[in-house]
Amino acid sequence: MLWGDARTISLPGKIDGVITSPPYVGLIDYHEQHRYAYELLGLPTNGEDEIGASFKGNSQSAKEAYQREIASVFAHTGEYMDSGKRVIIVVRDRDNLYDNIAAQCGFEIENAIRRHVNRRTGRRVNEFFEEVLIWRKKRSTKKPGRLSRVILKGSFRA
Ligand SMILES: C[S@@+](CC[C@H](N)C(=O)[O-])C[C@H]1O[C@@H](n2cnc3c(N)ncnc32)[C@H](O)[C@@H]1O
Repeated sequence: MLWGDARTISLPGKIDGVITSPPYVGLIDYHEQHRYAYELLGLPTNGEDEIGASFKGNSQSAKEAYQREIASVFAHTGEYMDSGKRVIIVVRDRDNLYDNIAAQCGFEIENAIRRHVNRRTGRRVNEFFEEVLIWRKKRSTKKPGRLSRVILKGSFRA
């Protein structure tokens, strides 16, 4: 198990895919909700690094920051994935933020499945739906660097 900031953590090698339930915008302070677990495991709480934390609010600028931060999670994770590999995101995208996030981080949208959540606690009366988003890593559109240009030229001449 690895613990760290999903925007920067080093992974030991290539990965075949991601399944995630990301934080919402301005809804929950997970570092507070799970304080007991952090204390039990001797981990720093790192509230400032928490994406979408409730204390950061849900203003327009908070939503834009959220989009940039989640995009940087997938851009970073995508560096460990070959093109065509998938990420699956379970989220209630009420503010329609995720199409834009996909466009920012090198993934194309393959499918979005709306799912009814059967909440067994019965505490909330409203129907609750969430989306299962399926994205595929795009082929890299980066221009070849100088070294690869030299190799390409060399092999062309040969
Ligand atoms: C909706 S919860 C899902 C948790 C987990 N999938 C589960 O089922 O228990 C979102 C999680 O994202 C974590 N999170 C927020 N910002 C993060 C970051 N920068 N790096 C890694 N995790 C982060 C929160 O602490 C929270 O645990």
